[in-house]
Amino acid sequence: MTSYEESLQRISSGVKATFKDILALLEADPVNRHCLLRLADGVRSRRMGEEVHLRGVIEFSNYCSSRCLYCGLRSGNRRLIRYRMEPGEILAAARAAARLGLKTIVLQSGEDHYYTVDTLTRIISKIKDSLDVAVTLSVGLRPYGDLLAFRNAGADRYLLKFETADPLLFTRLRPGTTLSDRIKSIRQLKHIGYQVGAGSIVGLPGQTSRTIARDILLLRKLDVEMAGIGPFIPHPGTPLGGNPPGSLETTLTVLAIVRLLMPQLHLPATTALDAISKEGRRLALQYGSNVIMPNVTPARYRPFYSIYPGKAGGNLDPATAVEEVRSWIESLGRTAGSGYGHSSGHKSFPSPIR
Ligand code: 5AD
Ligand code: SF4
Repeated sequence: MTSYEESLQRISSGVKATFKDILALLEADPVNRHCLLRLADGVRSRRMGEEVHLRGVIEFSNYCSSRCLYCGLRSGNRRLIRYRMEPGEILAAARAAARLGLKTIVLQSGEDHYYTVDTLTRIISKIKDSLDVAVTLSVGLRPYGDLLAFRNAGADRYLLKFETADPLLFTRLRPGTTLSDRIKSIRQLKHIGYQVGAGSIVGLPGQTSRTIARDILLLRKLDVEMAGIGPFIPHPGTPLGGNPPGSLETTLTVLAIVRLLMPQLHLPATTALDAISKEGRRLALQYGSNVIMPNVTPARYRPFYSIYPGKAGGNLDPATAVEEVRSWIESLGRTAGSGYGHSSGHKSFPSPIR
């Protein structure tokens, strides 16, 4: 038996995958890789069912105080036109998304401390009080007290990707920050009771199969509820603009391995996949993913949330963006989730009593 076959057999019989097993799967030849992807689809179907959960993303500010070398929102990128949505606009966008049938609103921004803990807390409370939706935050690192206040205001989930499990690469790509601080924050989020999303970028300059295998192991160790995994897309306005993008095949393989190792994880078909292939997100849904995140930011702001070029959906308005993903789901014979799509064991966080 080849090491690929041995590893797959061990994992399928319930043995906990080792670093070597993951490496063998990552380095599978094209035929074996295809089998792996099909296997992941089967596990997804048996363990998570045919529902695809929709999470509507509102990108409410593209200001960022960080300088991640790969990201177009980095503070050093002076070519980007910056915007901030007012609380009333954010609320209106959330209302519009709820009218489109979405049951989760993701509030996403760069690390923008213009939105104080009080401002964000008020926005979260208003959404939870007036709409029947779960709220996910994706606003970067915040002090423990802020995370607690957001949760008490009704936030259900928090996304904080670790991006890479290699501590040296992490600090090189995210100057002034450390992997251990990031992990500490992910643990705090879990402790507070959020459903937590972590994840990584595939194909970062300086990454190898070995570091990708460590990304997968770190994800398992953190025991989170969601994982956002997407390919690296070079942005010409960043120091890494001249590097090649991450590959579609490797990203799909990582998603498939994660599905095999963590069958119950919510696994979005990430937007970055569409920047390397027209079919990227659809393929992810076919090979292990069970979540999709249509962009419901008002169309006039969409061109400016330029994390990387060719971000999916271009300038689609929210209704068209939601319609597009619903039609993919139908064409794959799956169903769009009509509930909140919480992780098992979690309920919607009630609004605070006032
Ligand atoms: N390519 C792919 N993903 C990127 N992100 C930021 N820049 C890039 C890029 N160039 C992702 C990071 C971050 C999220 C906001 O976008 O994973 O968590
Ligand atoms: Fe800011 Fe996040 Fe981009 Fe880093 S990845 S520059 S923290 S928006």
